[in-house]
Amino acid sequence: MIFLKKQSLADTKKLAEHLAGFLSAGDLILLRGNLGAGKTTFTRQLVHALSDDPDLIVNSPTFTILQQYTGHGLPFPVYHFDAYRLETIGAADQGFEDYIGADGLTLVEWPDYMKEILPDQYLEIAFSYDGQDRDVRLTAHGARYEKMLDRL
Ligand SMILES: Nc1ncnc2c1ncn2[C@@H]1O[C@H](COP(=O)(O)OP(=O)(O)O)[C@@H](O)[C@H]1O
Ligand SMILES: [Mg+2]
Repeated sequence: MIFLKKQSLADTKKLAEHLAGFLSAGDLILLRGNLGAGKTTFTRQLVHALSDDPDLIVNSPTFTILQQYTGHGLPFPVYHFDAYRLETIGAADQGFEDYIGADGLTLVEWPDYMKEILPDQYLEIAFSYDGQDRDVRLTAHGARYEKMLDRL
């Protein structure tokens, strides 16, 4: 577990740039934290760290649930989920399994709402914001991510 206190935008950008060097196709990152805690911002920073296109627009796929990024210098596709709208209907039978642990990096905001289709190995990044300070906690679930955090 890595706990980072009082993370500014510059701090999380640095973290995203550092983490980007350790990621491969098939990786899964679950992003936890309340509304406004910084999940989408970090995803944007991570996509920009992987891409060579600073103009690539990365927003939360609130209505579409899934946004895919390919090209733009990305070494592999990035699949960005915002599962919030699955709260009532769940994630089963939507075909989302195909995007997890496949040919790209998958990031999931509000992962509890699609937990029935998520594997048990992933990197968890929990954002907390109390109105003043923003803390970030990284937790590895599974050997691959334990090794990743050890090296980070
Ligand atoms: N580390 C940070 N420092 C300062 N502001 C931040 C930080 N992370 C996010 N923000 C700001 O907080 C707001 C909400 O962030 P967002 O990433 O959309 O949250 P979430 O996706 O968790 O709902 C945005 O205006 C964003 O610029
Ligand atoms: Mg968001």
